[in-house]
Amino acid sequence: MLEIKNLTVSIGDRKILDGLNLTVQDGEVAAIMGPNGTGKSTLSYVIAGKPGYTVEGGEVLLDGENILGLGPDERAGKGVFLAFQYPVEIPGVATMTFLKAALNAQRRQRGEEELTTPVFMKKVREASKLLDIKDEILRRALNVGFSGGEKKRMDILQMALLEPNTAILDETDSGLDIDAIRIVSEGVNKLRTAKRSFLLITHYQRLLDYIVPDTVHVMARGKIVRTGGKDLALELEKNGYRDFAATPEAA
Ligand SMILES: Nc1ncnc2c1ncn2[C@@H]1O[C@H](COP(=O)(O)OP(=O)(O)OP(=O)(O)O)[C@@H](O)[C@H]1O
Ligand SMILES: [Mg+2]
Repeated sequence: MLEIKNLTVSIGDRKILDGLNLTVQDGEVAAIMGPNGTGKSTLSYVIAGKPGYTVEGGEVLLDGENILGLGPDERAGKGVFLAFQYPVEIPGVATMTFLKAALNAQRRQRGEEELTTPVFMKKVREASKLLDIKDEILRRALNVGFSGGEKKRMDILQMALLEPNTAILDETDSGLDIDAIRIVSEGVNKLRTAKRSFLLITHYQRLLDYIVPDTVHVMARGKIVRTGGKDLALELEKNGYRDFAATPEAA
């Protein structure tokens, strides 16, 4: 279970998250929607442990343990996974090599044996097939020259391999064509389990037709201002955010 309590975060002297509260139960898919620049990506970075953010107060609890003091690698070892809004390109490192290094780093962090190459290859092949990813792309440098959709699919492949318990997908649907949305969504849906929770950041209700969320949260001005079921996304689609960000009281 992920519990975020009263989280306040600034970058430089600017407050970005302002007393944010959010609980995501085991197995829950929570969608987060909200206007541009309200701090959705910032929230995902702070959970994953990206440096450069000042936590002024509050807690991020993973199964009751505050993870804010841990490094990003330790958090990954505990099962936190973040698919970036803008996937990082790593020139000179073949995708396959990167995937193996990521998986083995996580295993080392957990005190587990590294995977042998045949076992790793089998895992990658299975997961790639599910996501319709060609072998050719796995030999290329990670994300370099990948199309937008290929990058997003690669994120889901990483997630499938790392088997996180808390997966944060930041606008995984942006830039995907209609077929790719379906493929990526099916990939995510297959990874839904009773234990694994998802934080799905999206601007579009359409994604939620494919990945049906348990809860929908509206974020505005650095906090969650409304929580509801999947119908809330339909309401937002119709009305936009005018009801939420307009007044300080609403935020
Ligand atoms: N490194 C940084 N330095 C200064 N300001 C930053 C930095 N990173 C983010 N911000 C600011 O923090 C605010 C929140 O940004 P964030 O990327 O979290 O928004 P978002 O909700 O993900 O928006 P979008 O829907 O456009 O992706 C923005 O005003 C942004 O300019
Ligand atoms: Mg963002």
